[in-house]
Amino acid sequence: MTTHTAVLIPGDGIGPEVSDAVKKVFEAAEAPIKFITRYAGVAALERGKDDLLPADTVDAVREHHIALKGPCTTPIGAGFSSVNVALRKKLNLYAAVRPVRSLPGVKTRFEDVDLIIVRENTEGLYSGIENLITDGVVASLKVATRVACHRIAHWTFKYATHRQREKISVFHKANIMKLSDGMFIEESRKVHEEDYPNIKYEEVIIDAAEMKLVQDPTQFDIILCENLYGDIVSDLCAGMVGGLGVTPGANIGDEDAVFEAVHGSAPDIAGKGIANPLALLMSGTMMLNRLADTRRDENCAKAAERIKLGYNQALEDGQKTRDLGGELNTNGFVQAVIERMNG
Ligand code: NAI
Repeated sequence: MTTHTAVLIPGDGIGPEVSDAVKKVFEAAEAPIKFITRYAGVAALERGKDDLLPADTVDAVREHHIALKGPCTTPIGAGFSSVNVALRKKLNLYAAVRPVRSLPGVKTRFEDVDLIIVRENTEGLYSGIENLITDGVVASLKVATRVACHRIAHWTFKYATHRQREKISVFHKANIMKLSDGMFIEESRKVHEEDYPNIKYEEVIIDAAEMKLVQDPTQFDIILCENLYGDIVSDLCAGMVGGLGVTPGANIGDEDAVFEAVHGSAPDIAGKGIANPLALLMSGTMMLNRLADTRRDENCAKAAERIKLGYNQALEDGQKTRDLGGELNTNGFVQAVIERMNG
């Protein structure tokens, strides 16, 4: 059996708790993964590193091409830039993929939600270029390049084909941001018309799109957005299926991929042992499925299937953490998943 080395970046806040939980489930599922641990953000500073994103962390991902990452805190205000954004930019992880699906046993206002949000991950307002023009006046720069707009559009259509999805909806605000969002839809339309005419395609202005989403999420399939819209839309969609505790994600580039939950470090519950590890666990199964695809390893696919069976059955049996209205703590949920993994 081949063993794949993956970098584990536990993060901070609830990150180490949910990372430990995933490690336990992976072990029980006999996932052929050897984790090596590296640090980023506050956790790196606490270990004496002088950089929020130490070179040995980035180098390890470049070497092994695959990582599972817990959340890293980004305090609001000056003097601390986001290590999450920096990692995505440094490794050129230009596509953020966030599947949002209704789960068995998790009752919400919505049924049959099955959406995939693809977010451009490297530019937009996340360029972090802000200027103090004069006292009391700040300008924040939204960057859009044709190369990145084309790249994410092409990636999304290819992904849709691979996943046998039917429709791509681009959410935008090109009526106001005529040049930047204008270029985003122009490139998406071009890729659709020239390369993937068989996949249904639509452009929806984002304010109306948000309204339509909460009226009937089943009218969408894959949602493609620039960076900031993708961030906001993913949390909105997370709320439709049970919240941030159940929404996984992946940041993918041509060479490397970093899998992480949509949620943050949840300082309000950190250290209490009650965080829901499911979002990171589902991100871990996405990682296994990618390895199954790209390295043609059946054992990764089997482990992912086992884990999925475990968590779906646990939820169906009402074995849930508190964010989902249950009573289990993190470890209790891990045990419930492990007990149900083999059917
Ligand atoms: P958050 O996602 O950390 O928390 C929002 C709410 O959801 C909180 O009430 C929290 O308790 C709850 N929650 C989140 N994950 C949960 C889980 N697994 N189980 C149970 N409840 C959960 O968002 P917030 O408070 O806006 O951000 C906190 C910090 O995390 C900030 O510094 C932010 O910059 C950072 N962050 C980091 C991300 C990353 O590393 N990729 C992503 C988002 C935020």
